[in-house]
Amino acid sequence: MSPSPELSVIVPTFNERENVQELVKRLTAVLDGVAWEVIFVDDDSPDGTAALVREVARQDPRVRVLQRIGRRGLSTACVEGMLASSAPYLAVMDGDLQHDESILPAMLRGVKEGGFEIAIGSRYVVGGGLGQWAGDRQFASRFATRVSRLLLKAAVQDPMSGYFLLKRGVLEGAVHDLSGIGFKILLDLFASSPKPLRFIEVPYEFRTRQAGESKFDTAVLWDFLMMLLDKTLGRYVPIRFIPFALVGGAGVFVHLFVLWLVFDLGGARFAVGQTVAAVVAMTFNFFINNVVTYRDRQLRGWGLLRGWVSFTLACSLGAVANVGIATYAFETHLVGQTAWVLSAIAGIIVGAVWNYAVTSVYTWNKVKGA
Ligand code: GDD
Ligand code: MN
Repeated sequence: MSPSPELSVIVPTFNERENVQELVKRLTAVLDGVAWEVIFVDDDSPDGTAALVREVARQDPRVRVLQRIGRRGLSTACVEGMLASSAPYLAVMDGDLQHDESILPAMLRGVKEGGFEIAIGSRYVVGGGLGQWAGDRQFASRFATRVSRLLLKAAVQDPMSGYFLLKRGVLEGAVHDLSGIGFKILLDLFASSPKPLRFIEVPYEFRTRQAGESKFDTAVLWDFLMMLLDKTLGRYVPIRFIPFALVGGAGVFVHLFVLWLVFDLGGARFAVGQTVAAVVAMTFNFFINNVVTYRDRQLRGWGLLRGWVSFTLACSLGAVANVGIATYAFETHLVGQTAWVLSAIAGIIVGAVWNYAVTSVYTWNKVKGA
């Protein structure tokens, strides 16, 4: 056996305490004869998964833990786990025993001896299956699978699989371009690799979870959408700008509605109505962006107040820039005679880009908001 591991199994975990020991036991049995290690990448699970892994690790040096604080994210957990290893072969598998560990040797053989760069544990090739997934989840998975095949340069049957084994070089080729958003790390790897990957799919039957809970929810679907956008339009615009601009558009309707209430119905002075409407619209935009656009950096508690203040300040300056640019464009006929619509659009674009750029740094600061 070589002195250092040949295969690292990366296991992302969030509240998987009850599954850790069983998984290590099963890996030990199935990887007999292979120099392996397992790296649990735990996002500071409240159930104490990391502490338990450390306990197991004291008895078994093949077990390691990478505990991340103030972070969440399945994809980034897998990537960082792989980067923490020096092994030439890297596997990624769930920590809830739903992925059938008994196919690991076949996956390793495929990559080590079969000339493939990546082996995918697949539910959609002959011999594989979805197990006892609920009907709607099966439908969602099949649908998402179709969509993602469009994005890929490869006819992978199960691009949504979270179970695969690859040569280190595959990671190194893609790692600087990965979007790292959400759950679908395999899809990300394929979409970010400079060349089409030589892959093989090894069938397995998806098991039912026995302990702990799934973290799959509608947010996962949102992340999936964001990742697809990033991989298609991300070259041209920062991907968060799209939801940010959509929220801004919705804010216009909020503004008009409040103005109608205060000025038209309520009989207040126009300037009063306009001010109230602007503040309400900005507040609306702030909260929606906080839960949608910046879900992964969501501000809470006092951070919310600080965020709201900086957001409102930034957007007020943005409004000044908007009006300034639009007026300048209109008065100097920059975009043509009487082109009031184009002038307004120029102002709106400058204002929106300003708001986005400034609030991405000051309101949803990556470090503070993490
Ligand atoms: N570190 C970390 N951070 N781990 C996480 C996080 C997170 O934010 N969210 C989930 N996990 C871990 C879970 O603890 C589990 O080990 C694994 O990631 C998969 O999460 P589940 O919540 O069990 O997902 P699932 O069963 O609905 O879907 C999984 O299987 C599908 C089929 O292979 C995922 O791996 C999907 O990506 C995959 O398509
Ligand atoms: Mn699961």
